[in-house]
Amino acid sequence: METKVLKISEESLELSKALLESGEVIGMPTETVYGLAGDGRNSTAVKRIFEVKGRPSDNPLIAHVHKDFDLESLCYIERDYVPLLIKEFMPGPLTLVMKSKGVVCSEAICGGETLAVRMPSHKGCQELLKKVNIPLVAPSANISKHTSPVTASHVYNDLNGKIPLILDGGKCLGGIESTVLDVTGEYPRILRAGLITKEMIERATGKCFISEHKEGDKVKSPGVKYTHYRPKCQTALYETNQVDQAIKRYEKEVANGKTPYIMCENKYAKQFKGKNLLLLGESGEEVASNLYDKLLEGEERADIIIAISMGREDGVYMGIMNRLKKACG
Ligand code: TXA
Ligand code: MG
Repeated sequence: METKVLKISEESLELSKALLESGEVIGMPTETVYGLAGDGRNSTAVKRIFEVKGRPSDNPLIAHVHKDFDLESLCYIERDYVPLLIKEFMPGPLTLVMKSKGVVCSEAICGGETLAVRMPSHKGCQELLKKVNIPLVAPSANISKHTSPVTASHVYNDLNGKIPLILDGGKCLGGIESTVLDVTGEYPRILRAGLITKEMIERATGKCFISEHKEGDKVKSPGVKYTHYRPKCQTALYETNQVDQAIKRYEKEVANGKTPYIMCENKYAKQFKGKNLLLLGESGEEVASNLYDKLLEGEERADIIIAISMGREDGVYMGIMNRLKKACG
């Protein structure tokens, strides 16, 4: 199959609509990462998504809808704090897990009772969602376990020949996936950390818990149990107080004829002067925005990415460190 990559236009949106309505799956931009989208009501399209990605069959998908879509047509809004979250953070990088009404097919939610829903804020994605006016389920548009794509060419590198179309909406500005929040209980619970932070949710609703998967826990959000986000090259992760060890490792790799790259925040640039660098930026938002892009640049150029930890897990750093540990740890 030939994979077209088309900039977002009236024409490419029409083509997308026709493909999606015929049960095909396509690459679509969002403000977080690129998604592999299909009609959430169509079990054949949903099966195709799992097949294209090589995704484990027990890991449910997120339904994406436009900003005027009636969420209550898809799920039950059972808690009083949910409208506050919707008002504050949607459209945006927040996914809400609620009891499903069964419109999105059971294959998409792996036979479970809940459905994860989000409203992406990416302009081109909103245009697509508005045009099709159906819930599009979409996991990140990478081969399962690989680093998530933040440009159309990243999607192309993973899925070329497997899907008919990738809509090119530029580089994703958010850079890490949405926060997945279980809102079925008395208080909201973060199942996957992201750009909407625990602190932001607490400000809106008062309380918020974290229930990310740890070894031995019962899995609440299946996706977080898998090895994830791995670039194709070798990786190593050093703590903030292990800069000297990271330099020794770099020199050892060079001595062995390898090409190492150090991936770190800009503030380390001086300490690693003269070395191959993948610089992530200064603020947490910048680091999130660059993380996957730099991992994917690294796998092209390096034999090994030597990453330096952020050394903190407050705010957006929780989501960043969660990815960094899985990608490089
Ligand atoms: O930013 C994002 O969320 C991106 C873009 C494309 O929207 N999508 C994304 O999808 O990251 P995916 O499939 O790669 O990750 C979805 C995550 C997984 O951790 C999955 O287990 C969790 O959401 N999830 C989906 N449905 C769920 C449900 N009903 N209950 C609990 N967790 C759910
Ligand atoms: Mg993913």
